[in-house]
Amino acid sequence: MSDRSQAGIVGAGSIGVAWAVTFARGGWRVRVQDPDPGRVELVRAEARERLDRLAAHGLLDEEPGPVADRIEAGSELAWAVGEADLIIESAPERLEIKRGVYEGVLAAAPEGAVVASSTSALPPSELFEGLAGAERCLVAHPTNPPYLLPVVELVPASFTAEATVARARELFGSVGMEPILVRSEAEGFVVNRLQGAILREAYCLLRDGVATADEIDLAVRGGLGRRWALTGPFETADLNTRGGIASHAQKMGPAYARMGAERGQDDPWTPELVAQVEAERRRLLPLDEWDSRVLWRDEQLMRVEATRRGK
Ligand SMILES: NC(=O)c1ccc[n+]([C@@H]2O[C@H](COP(=O)([O-])OP(=O)(O)OC[C@H]3O[C@@H](n4cnc5c(N)ncnc54)[C@H](O)[C@@H]3O)[C@@H](O)[C@H]2O)c1
Repeated sequence: MSDRSQAGIVGAGSIGVAWAVTFARGGWRVRVQDPDPGRVELVRAEARERLDRLAAHGLLDEEPGPVADRIEAGSELAWAVGEADLIIESAPERLEIKRGVYEGVLAAAPEGAVVASSTSALPPSELFEGLAGAERCLVAHPTNPPYLLPVVELVPASFTAEATVARARELFGSVGMEPILVRSEAEGFVVNRLQGAILREAYCLLRDGVATADEIDLAVRGGLGRRWALTGPFETADLNTRGGIASHAQKMGPAYARMGAERGQDDPWTPELVAQVEAERRRLLPLDEWDSRVLWRDEQLMRVEATRRGK
């Protein structure tokens, strides 16, 4: 009997297989379950194909074979979750299917296991309300594929135990995932709200004839997006203006407020809000390290460009 941690993945679609790759690569044993025999049949081959590709890019610390060997697939739910430390439900995005899954999972899982849902949009209070064992459950929303995009949004409901959240952070962190704790059940969590803000404005710009769809995409792929691969919106603004984010807000705040007002939005960057961001940024990057971080960003952009040119 191995002392490796074990994951039980319920649902062997795109996300289920991707989670299997993520946890097997992280050293875990993985059991994947799906009621569709066709999917069960394909899991190991699909995972192996992704592991081979990771290895070809030098992104795997072991040979792909032994990593793939840690993944098993089957159709029995109790088999998949009965010895798991972490269970990740990745079934279709339908409330009644997911709730049916949790009843089976909670009946078969070990007592200490954390139960997570990959849901893109369903709030944890609706998913888990009233289930015996709901305090062990939370949402863990990945971006696809999680073995290449480390962010995972952990969203507890009011009844999720703090110990569950802490354990989930630890378990996802142990395979290289970087959790965001979403502190309220905001629709779309954080990732899709940010994505939505950009997409809403993209549609407005297209509608108003300001640019074509491809030109709007170019604004992101040839500009904003390359920086965002390295720094988020706050750090980007922080590094764009000498003096950091407070200076940026002072210079640019009025223009951004006018753009928001044009779209019927009134969410001013109040002095208190800017001070809050500034305090967090300065904890992460004292101003006397600002110049070297700007150089770091430029170096990274050079590496991105060199990769893009195939060098
Ligand atoms: N695809 C994405 O980009 C993405 C990103 C983040 C989160 N998610 C979420 O992950 C979940 C899975 O999405 P997906 O894209 O992998 O879907 P998918 O359709 O590729 O896979 C779903 C799998 O669940 C299986 N299934 C059906 N009923 C089941 C049951 N009762 N028990 C167990 N498995 C069952 C299906 O046979 C299928 O293999 C959804 O909640 C989705 O919102 C998807």
